[in-house]
Amino acid sequence: MKRLAILLIAASALFLGQAQAQRVNLLCSPDLAWCEALGPAFKEATGIDLEFQRLSSNDGLARLRAEAANPIFDVWFGGTGDPHLIAFREGLTEFYEPSVWDEIIQDLKDQVGGTYIPLYAGALGFVVNEGVLEGKPMPEGWRDLTDPMYKGLVAMSDPNSSGTAYTVIATLVQIFGEEEAFEILAGMHQNMAQYTSSGSGPGQLAGRGEVAIGVQFMHDGVKFAAQGFPLVTYAPVEGTGYEIGGLSLVKNAPNRDAAIAFIEWALTPEAQMIAAEQGDSYQIQSNRNTPVAELAPDLSGINLIDYDFDTYGTPEVKERLVDRWTNEIFPTPR
Ligand code: G6P
Repeated sequence: MKRLAILLIAASALFLGQAQAQRVNLLCSPDLAWCEALGPAFKEATGIDLEFQRLSSNDGLARLRAEAANPIFDVWFGGTGDPHLIAFREGLTEFYEPSVWDEIIQDLKDQVGGTYIPLYAGALGFVVNEGVLEGKPMPEGWRDLTDPMYKGLVAMSDPNSSGTAYTVIATLVQIFGEEEAFEILAGMHQNMAQYTSSGSGPGQLAGRGEVAIGVQFMHDGVKFAAQGFPLVTYAPVEGTGYEIGGLSLVKNAPNRDAAIAFIEWALTPEAQMIAAEQGDSYQIQSNRNTPVAELAPDLSGINLIDYDFDTYGTPEVKERLVDRWTNEIFPTPR
């Protein structure tokens, strides 16, 4: 009897172990539609179940910090790169070198390789509903966003939750220096209709005509335009920053084998094509064998700054800039 019981316990432990290995739990930071498309395609390719929770990049980082002693997530898929870099530096994620490492665009690896896996790239810009401007000129550059004629017409996301908004702040600091960047952010604040929690929210507001100008990633703007919203998307004249969206293995992931299977799958051209094929997202995907979507903004035609990922992916730098914005800019009456 006793031996049978032990055998049964051992067999059920084995079974549970296998059952566990057949699931991956994803922290997913791109737009919801892309997150939703991953599970069925991954299950079809590997037989492994996928569950996900969509959290904006900085909310995602906060969750990984809170769960560090007992991680719930196995993989962090997407979201801006700075928080992925910070997660790595804080020991919340580990660098896993995928078998397709040689196929990942060299430029992206040169910037962040060895800390997190580049998943995609995209540049910041303006997403504008010209009709709502009622004859006012479209803003050409960052400084124009402070012009009082745009009062109540601008939206951007909140850097406390959104990686996109942090990329905006870091970009302005790199183009103009910190003092002028915060003057521009203060001027933008005076024109701000709303701060959204997620990065692509402003373009949705502009698409619906609730604001005229969304400040966010350009690839989200072209997506909303393709969905039929009256939007034009372009880069500011002074230059713009960009993201290298991340893919990270969570340290002490509860389902490590399934996590690695997911990472390997997510970097194949077949998996990377899903976003554009389904009209969910139009970043430049990181595997150089993934065809570039027709609608993906052409980064070579944009005045891109030499974004300093190393500096702006430092925990103290990010915390200081976001705190400064939160304490100096956000509470100012407008
Ligand atoms: C959108 C973009 C992604 C970006 C993400 C960041 O989903 O398509 O390229 O990484 O925003 O989201 P967040 O809400 O953190 O700004």
